[in-house]
Amino acid sequence: MQKKWQVLITLDIPEIGIRMLKECCKVEVNKKDVALSKKEIIAKLRDKYALCCGAEDVIDAEVMDSAPNLKIIARYGVGYDKVDVKAATKRKILVTNTPEVLTDAVAEMTWCLLFCLARRIVEADNFVRKGKFKRSGPESLLGIDIRGKTLGIIGAGKIGTAVAKKSTGFNMDILYCEVVKNNELEKIGGKKVELNYLLKHADFVSLHVPLTSKTTHLVGERELNIMKKTAYLINTSRGKVVDEVALAKALNGKQIAGAALDVYENEPQINRELLGMRNVILTPHISSATKETRDKMSIMVAKDCIAVLKGEKLSHLVNPEVLG
Ligand code: DGY
Repeated sequence: MQKKWQVLITLDIPEIGIRMLKECCKVEVNKKDVALSKKEIIAKLRDKYALCCGAEDVIDAEVMDSAPNLKIIARYGVGYDKVDVKAATKRKILVTNTPEVLTDAVAEMTWCLLFCLARRIVEADNFVRKGKFKRSGPESLLGIDIRGKTLGIIGAGKIGTAVAKKSTGFNMDILYCEVVKNNELEKIGGKKVELNYLLKHADFVSLHVPLTSKTTHLVGERELNIMKKTAYLINTSRGKVVDEVALAKALNGKQIAGAALDVYENEPQINRELLGMRNVILTPHISSATKETRDKMSIMVAKDCIAVLKGEKLSHLVNPEVLG
Protein backbone atom coordinates (compact mmCIF):
# COMPACT_ATOMS: atom_id res chain seq x y z
CA MET A 1 0.00 0.00 0.00
CA GLN A 2 1.28 3.43 -0.87
CA LYS A 3 1.43 5.55 2.25
CA LYS A 4 0.32 8.89 0.93
CA TRP A 5 -0.45 10.37 4.33
CA GLN A 6 2.49 11.94 6.06
CA VAL A 7 2.56 12.64 9.75
CA LEU A 8 5.00 14.71 11.80
CA ILE A 9 5.38 13.85 15.47
CA THR A 10 7.48 16.47 17.22
CA LEU A 11 8.24 14.37 20.30
CA ASP A 12 9.14 10.75 20.85
CA ILE A 13 5.74 9.43 21.98
CA PRO A 14 5.35 5.79 23.11
CA GLU A 15 5.89 3.29 20.32
CA ILE A 16 2.35 1.91 20.51
CA GLY A 17 0.85 5.00 18.82
CA ILE A 18 3.69 5.32 16.34
CA ARG A 19 3.13 1.69 15.27
CA MET A 20 -0.58 2.36 14.73
CA LEU A 21 0.22 5.39 12.59
CA LYS A 22 2.87 3.53 10.61
CA GLU A 23 0.25 1.05 9.41
CA CYS A 24 -1.31 3.68 7.20
CA CYS A 25 0.97 6.70 7.19
CA LYS A 26 4.51 7.76 6.56
CA VAL A 27 5.69 8.91 9.95
CA GLU A 28 8.50 11.30 10.87
CA VAL A 29 9.33 11.48 14.58
CA ASN A 30 11.63 13.93 16.33
CA LYS A 31 13.62 11.49 18.46
CA LYS A 32 15.79 14.17 20.06
CA ASP A 33 15.16 15.15 23.66
CA VAL A 34 14.99 18.83 22.72
CA ALA A 35 11.98 20.48 21.13
CA LEU A 36 12.12 21.43 17.46
CA SER A 37 12.43 25.14 16.75
CA LYS A 38 9.58 26.83 14.89
CA LYS A 39 11.82 26.98 11.81
CA GLU A 40 12.45 23.22 12.02
CA ILE A 41 8.74 22.47 12.43
CA ILE A 42 7.95 24.61 9.39
CA ALA A 43 10.62 22.85 7.31
CA LYS A 44 9.39 19.39 8.31
CA LEU A 45 5.66 20.11 8.09
CA ARG A 46 5.53 21.13 4.42
CA ASP A 47 4.02 17.89 3.01
CA LYS A 48 2.37 16.59 6.16
CA TYR A 49 -1.34 15.86 6.60
CA ALA A 50 -1.15 15.50 10.36
CA LEU A 51 0.90 17.02 13.15
CA CYS A 52 1.24 15.55 16.62
CA CYS A 53 2.84 18.10 18.92
CA GLY A 54 4.02 18.62 22.48
CA ALA A 55 3.39 21.20 25.20
CA GLU A 56 6.24 23.47 24.10
CA ASP A 57 5.58 23.56 20.34
CA VAL A 58 4.21 26.90 19.17
CA ILE A 59 1.77 26.13 16.38
CA ASP A 60 0.61 29.47 15.03
CA ALA A 61 -0.79 30.78 11.73
CA GLU A 62 2.67 30.97 10.18
CA VAL A 63 3.31 27.30 10.92
CA MET A 64 -0.13 26.32 9.59
CA ASP A 65 0.37 28.33 6.39
CA SER A 66 3.58 26.44 5.71
CA ALA A 67 1.62 23.18 5.46
CA PRO A 68 -1.13 23.42 2.84
CA ASN A 69 -2.16 19.77 3.33
CA LEU A 70 -2.47 19.93 7.11
CA LYS A 71 -5.78 18.48 8.33
CA ILE A 72 -5.18 17.89 12.02
CA ILE A 73 -3.11 19.20 14.89
CA ALA A 74 -3.18 16.53 17.58
CA ARG A 75 -1.89 17.80 20.92
CA TYR A 76 -0.18 15.03 22.86
CA GLY A 77 -1.49 16.38 26.17
CA VAL A 78 -4.46 18.28 27.44
CA GLY A 79 -3.29 21.93 27.38
CA TYR A 80 -3.40 23.55 23.96
CA ASP A 81 -2.34 27.07 24.92
CA LYS A 82 0.50 27.06 22.37
CA VAL A 83 -1.81 26.14 19.48
CA ASP A 84 -3.61 29.05 17.83
CA VAL A 85 -6.99 27.34 17.71
CA LYS A 86 -8.66 30.35 16.06
CA ALA A 87 -6.13 30.29 13.23
CA ALA A 88 -6.61 26.53 12.86
CA THR A 89 -10.39 26.88 12.73
CA LYS A 90 -10.08 29.60 10.10
CA ARG A 91 -8.01 27.21 7.99
CA LYS A 92 -10.38 24.29 8.66
CA ILE A 93 -7.66 22.39 10.50
CA LEU A 94 -8.97 20.18 13.29
CA VAL A 95 -7.36 20.45 16.72
CA THR A 96 -7.56 17.54 19.17
CA ASN A 97 -6.07 16.90 22.61
CA THR A 98 -5.86 14.03 25.09
CA PRO A 99 -8.01 14.88 28.13
CA GLU A 100 -9.44 12.34 30.59
CA VAL A 101 -6.82 9.63 30.10
CA LEU A 102 -4.32 11.77 32.01
CA THR A 103 -6.60 13.19 34.70
CA ASP A 104 -5.65 10.69 37.40
CA ALA A 105 -1.94 10.67 36.60
CA VAL A 106 -1.79 14.45 36.99
CA ALA A 107 -3.93 14.31 40.15
CA GLU A 108 -1.65 11.62 41.62
CA MET A 109 1.43 13.69 40.80
CA THR A 110 -0.14 16.68 42.52
CA TRP A 111 -0.59 14.56 45.63
CA CYS A 112 2.90 13.23 45.29
CA LEU A 113 4.22 16.80 45.37
CA LEU A 114 1.93 17.68 48.26
CA PHE A 115 3.27 14.75 50.32
CA CYS A 116 6.84 15.63 49.43
CA LEU A 117 6.33 19.22 50.54
CA ALA A 118 4.55 18.32 53.76
CA ARG A 119 7.14 15.70 54.77
CA ARG A 120 10.22 17.33 53.21
CA ILE A 121 11.04 14.19 51.25
CA VAL A 122 13.54 15.75 48.84
CA GLU A 123 15.46 17.39 51.69
CA ALA A 124 15.35 14.15 53.67
CA ASP A 125 16.73 12.16 50.75
CA ASN A 126 19.58 14.66 50.34
CA PHE A 127 20.23 14.55 54.06
CA VAL A 128 20.74 10.78 53.96
CA ARG A 129 22.88 10.81 50.81
CA LYS A 130 25.14 13.51 52.25
CA GLY A 131 25.94 11.28 55.24
CA LYS A 132 24.13 13.54 57.72
CA PHE A 133 21.94 10.78 59.14
CA LYS A 134 23.48 10.09 62.56
CA ARG A 135 20.32 9.24 64.50
CA SER A 136 16.56 9.76 64.24
CA GLY A 137 16.57 13.22 65.78
CA PRO A 138 13.33 14.30 67.48
CA GLU A 139 13.41 17.71 65.80
CA SER A 140 15.11 16.68 62.60
CA LEU A 141 13.36 17.47 59.30
CA LEU A 142 10.01 18.18 60.88
CA GLY A 143 7.17 18.33 58.42
CA ILE A 144 3.50 19.11 58.88
CA ASP A 145 0.37 16.98 59.15
CA ILE A 146 -1.81 16.73 56.08
CA ARG A 147 -4.93 15.44 57.80
CA GLY A 148 -7.34 18.10 58.90
CA LYS A 149 -5.71 20.77 56.78
CA THR A 150 -7.38 22.93 54.11
CA LEU A 151 -6.83 22.14 50.46
CA GLY A 152 -7.39 25.03 48.03
CA ILE A 153 -8.07 24.07 44.44
CA ILE A 154 -7.84 26.87 41.89
CA GLY A 155 -9.60 25.60 38.78
CA ALA A 156 -12.04 22.78 39.51
CA GLY A 157 -12.19 21.16 36.10
CA LYS A 158 -11.50 17.45 35.62
CA ILE A 159 -8.01 17.47 37.14
CA GLY A 160 -8.78 19.89 39.97
CA THR A 161 -11.83 17.80 40.85
CA ALA A 162 -9.80 14.57 40.84
CA VAL A 163 -7.18 16.15 43.12
CA ALA A 164 -9.84 17.33 45.56
CA LYS A 165 -11.63 13.96 45.58
CA LYS A 166 -8.42 12.16 46.50
CA SER A 167 -8.30 14.19 49.74
CA THR A 168 -11.24 12.44 51.37
CA GLY A 169 -9.08 9.95 53.27
CA PHE A 170 -7.29 12.86 54.94
CA ASN A 171 -10.32 14.57 56.41
CA MET A 172 -9.40 17.86 54.77
CA ASP A 173 -11.51 20.95 54.19
CA ILE A 174 -11.81 21.66 50.50
CA LEU A 175 -12.07 25.15 49.09
CA TYR A 176 -12.26 25.69 45.36
CA CYS A 177 -12.34 28.56 42.89
CA GLU A 178 -14.34 27.99 39.75
CA VAL A 179 -16.79 29.99 37.68
CA VAL A 180 -19.65 27.60 38.34
CA LYS A 181 -20.53 25.36 41.27
CA ASN A 182 -18.94 21.91 41.10
CA ASN A 183 -21.52 19.40 42.31
CA GLU A 184 -19.02 16.59 42.72
CA LEU A 185 -17.00 18.73 45.11
CA GLU A 186 -20.04 20.12 46.91
CA LYS A 187 -21.08 16.51 47.59
CA ILE A 188 -17.85 15.83 49.45
CA GLY A 189 -18.07 19.08 51.40
CA GLY A 190 -16.16 21.33 49.00
CA LYS A 191 -16.91 25.06 49.24
CA LYS A 192 -16.84 27.38 46.24
CA VAL A 193 -15.11 30.57 47.35
CA GLU A 194 -13.49 33.71 45.95
CA LEU A 195 -9.79 33.57 45.14
CA ASN A 196 -8.79 35.85 48.03
CA TYR A 197 -10.67 33.72 50.53
CA LEU A 198 -9.05 30.55 49.25
CA LEU A 199 -5.57 32.08 49.36
CA LYS A 200 -6.13 33.33 52.89
CA HIS A 201 -7.37 30.01 54.30
CA ALA A 202 -5.75 27.17 52.38
CA ASP A 203 -2.74 25.27 53.71
CA PHE A 204 -2.08 23.79 50.27
CA VAL A 205 -2.93 25.84 47.19
CA SER A 206 -3.00 23.75 44.02
CA LEU A 207 -3.33 25.22 40.53
CA HIS A 208 -5.42 23.52 37.84
CA VAL A 209 -6.46 26.25 35.44
CA PRO A 210 -5.71 26.29 31.71
CA LEU A 211 -3.36 29.05 30.56
CA THR A 212 -5.29 31.97 29.08
CA SER A 213 -4.83 35.73 29.12
CA LYS A 214 -6.95 35.75 32.31
CA THR A 215 -4.89 33.13 34.14
CA THR A 216 -1.44 34.44 33.17
CA HIS A 217 0.24 35.43 36.46
CA LEU A 218 -2.94 34.57 38.33
CA VAL A 219 -0.63 34.00 41.28
CA GLY A 220 1.73 36.94 41.73
CA GLU A 221 3.03 39.12 44.54
CA ARG A 222 -0.42 40.23 45.72
CA GLU A 223 -1.76 36.68 45.88
CA LEU A 224 1.36 35.25 47.54
CA ASN A 225 1.12 37.97 50.18
CA ILE A 226 -2.43 36.87 51.00
CA MET A 227 -1.38 33.24 51.53
CA LYS A 228 -0.57 31.93 55.02
CA LYS A 229 3.10 31.99 55.94
CA THR A 230 2.76 28.25 56.61
CA ALA A 231 1.10 27.46 53.26
CA TYR A 232 2.46 25.62 50.22
CA LEU A 233 1.87 26.29 46.53
CA ILE A 234 1.71 23.46 43.99
CA ASN A 235 1.67 24.05 40.24
CA THR A 236 1.03 21.20 37.82
CA SER A 237 -0.92 23.36 35.35
CA ARG A 238 1.10 25.84 33.30
CA GLY A 239 4.19 27.76 34.34
CA LYS A 240 2.93 31.17 33.30
CA VAL A 241 0.04 30.93 35.76
CA VAL A 242 2.60 31.85 38.44
CA ASP A 243 4.81 34.92 38.42
CA GLU A 244 8.11 33.15 39.14
CA VAL A 245 9.99 36.29 40.16
CA ALA A 246 7.30 37.05 42.74
CA LEU A 247 7.34 33.42 43.88
CA ALA A 248 11.11 33.42 44.37
CA LYS A 249 10.77 36.64 46.40
CA ALA A 250 7.97 35.14 48.52
CA LEU A 251 9.96 31.97 49.18
CA ASN A 252 13.10 33.92 50.02
CA GLY A 253 11.20 36.21 52.36
CA LYS A 254 9.44 33.23 54.00
CA GLN A 255 6.14 34.77 52.90
CA ILE A 256 4.98 31.19 52.20
CA ALA A 257 6.47 27.93 53.46
CA GLY A 258 7.30 26.30 50.15
CA ALA A 259 6.32 25.39 46.63
CA ALA A 260 6.41 22.48 44.23
CA LEU A 261 6.55 23.21 40.53
CA ASP A 262 6.24 20.80 37.63
CA VAL A 263 5.88 23.59 35.05
CA TYR A 264 7.77 26.84 34.47
CA GLU A 265 7.31 30.28 32.98
CA ASN A 266 10.05 29.82 30.41
CA GLU A 267 10.24 26.09 30.12
CA PRO A 268 12.69 24.35 29.97
CA GLN A 269 14.61 27.28 31.50
CA ILE A 270 14.24 27.51 35.24
CA ASN A 271 14.46 30.67 37.31
CA ARG A 272 17.99 30.64 38.80
CA GLU A 273 16.85 31.78 42.20
CA LEU A 274 14.39 28.90 42.49
CA LEU A 275 17.13 26.44 41.56
CA GLY A 276 19.09 27.47 44.64
CA MET A 277 16.28 27.16 47.16
CA ARG A 278 15.65 24.37 49.62
CA ASN A 279 11.96 25.07 50.16
CA VAL A 280 10.99 24.42 46.56
CA ILE A 281 10.62 21.11 44.72
CA LEU A 282 11.23 21.19 40.97
CA THR A 283 10.21 18.43 38.56
CA PRO A 284 10.53 18.44 34.75
CA HIS A 285 6.90 18.66 33.52
CA ILE A 286 6.14 15.01 34.27
CA SER A 287 2.65 15.19 35.73
CA SER A 288 1.12 12.84 33.16
CA ALA A 289 4.26 10.71 32.94
CA THR A 290 3.19 7.21 33.90
CA LYS A 291 3.70 4.31 31.53
CA GLU A 292 -0.01 3.51 31.38
CA THR A 293 -1.13 7.10 30.84
CA ARG A 294 1.48 7.95 28.24
CA ASP A 295 0.56 4.80 26.28
CA LYS A 296 -3.10 5.82 26.35
CA MET A 297 -2.22 9.33 25.18
CA SER A 298 -0.13 7.87 22.36
CA ILE A 299 -3.00 5.63 21.24
CA MET A 300 -5.39 8.56 21.43
CA VAL A 301 -3.37 10.88 19.20
CA ALA A 302 -2.75 8.05 16.74
CA LYS A 303 -6.46 7.19 16.58
CA ASP A 304 -7.39 10.84 16.11
CA CYS A 305 -4.87 11.37 13.29
CA ILE A 306 -6.03 8.19 11.55
CA ALA A 307 -9.71 9.08 12.03
CA VAL A 308 -9.25 12.50 10.43
CA LEU A 309 -7.28 11.13 7.54
CA LYS A 310 -9.92 8.46 6.91
CA GLY A 311 -12.81 10.88 7.45
CA GLU A 312 -14.01 9.09 10.59
CA LYS A 313 -15.36 10.43 13.90
CA LEU A 314 -13.01 11.96 16.48
CA SER A 315 -13.18 11.62 20.23
CA HIS A 316 -11.68 14.87 21.53
CA LEU A 317 -12.11 17.77 19.22
CA VAL A 318 -11.16 21.20 20.49
CA ASN A 319 -12.72 23.10 17.57
CA PRO A 320 -15.88 21.20 16.52
CA GLU A 321 -17.03 24.29 14.59
CA VAL A 322 -14.66 23.22 11.78
CA LEU A 323 -17.05 20.36 11.04
CA GLY A 324 -19.97 22.79 10.88
C1 DGY B 1 -0.62 18.51 29.20
O1 DGY B 1 -1.31 17.51 29.10
O2 DGY B 1 -0.96 19.60 28.75
C2 DGY B 1 0.68 18.34 29.89
O3 DGY B 1 1.18 19.55 30.32
C3 DGY B 1 1.67 17.63 29.01
O4 DGY B 1 1.78 18.24 27.80
